[in-house]
Amino acid sequence: MERKSKLYEGKAKILYETDDPTVLLQQFKDDATAFNGKKKGTIANKGYVNNQISAHLYRYLASYFIPTHFLDVISDTEMTVTNLQMIPVEVVVRNIAAGSLLKRSDHKEGDVLPAPLLEYFLKDDAKNDPQITREDILEHELCSEEDLETLSRMALKINAVMKSFWQRRNIKLVDFKLEFGKNKDGKVILGDEISPDTCRFWDATTDEKMDKDRFRQDLGQVEETYENMRRRVFMEDVFESE
Ligand code: TMP
Ligand code: ASP
Repeated sequence: MERKSKLYEGKAKILYETDDPTVLLQQFKDDATAFNGKKKGTIANKGYVNNQISAHLYRYLASYFIPTHFLDVISDTEMTVTNLQMIPVEVVVRNIAAGSLLKRSDHKEGDVLPAPLLEYFLKDDAKNDPQITREDILEHELCSEEDLETLSRMALKINAVMKSFWQRRNIKLVDFKLEFGKNKDGKVILGDEISPDTCRFWDATTDEKMDKDRFRQDLGQVEETYENMRRRVFMEDVFESE
């Protein structure tokens, strides 16, 4: 698969065209940002870790019949993915109260939510990714009602599948963010990445933060934590293989 021109560069990834118009190359960077780019840094080896973790999770989700854009890992930091027309909505699923939910509710950090909470945010850096409702999504025609229904069901299924995956690795899946797009046949597909950049993971024994919050909150041991999460995914050392 030949890498052609750069299509899009985000804060943590670059998308390139390939010789096949239905396939893109997604490269993971070590760059890290937080608070809509106000805090900037690099996390050594993050590109490698996030590529490996995302690839494994997409393969795992595919085994549960969740369609994802993942095609193949082609280098330490690159994967090929299906070219999708992205829906400009960030879909957040929460199991435990943390992050921005603490500012928008009476929950304290660590409160277990009575049921998984589904939230939608407009993907628009200039507007600071504001929270939006299902009605806003339909009114602004960000996607059809049927697609919204499909991606919402997919997000809750992904949560159920991932919760037990992470439980077996002694990790609490606190919350995570997903992005969806449509393939050339109009089917809703999971895109983007799933990694410690886009999820909150807490060690189930100690409640230690095992994700990008270590960078956001200057908690230290950032690189080591990303590598620890990569090893847990593959159940190296500490865990028996699946
Ligand atoms: P939040 O609590 O800041 O709203 O974040 C919820 C989840 O979404 C958390 O797991 C981190 C992830 N996330 C992203 O992947 N990208 C973002 O830009 C933000 C703000 C959060
Ligand atoms: N990645 C986002 C940014 O740069 C936010 C975050 O993950 O906290 O702002």
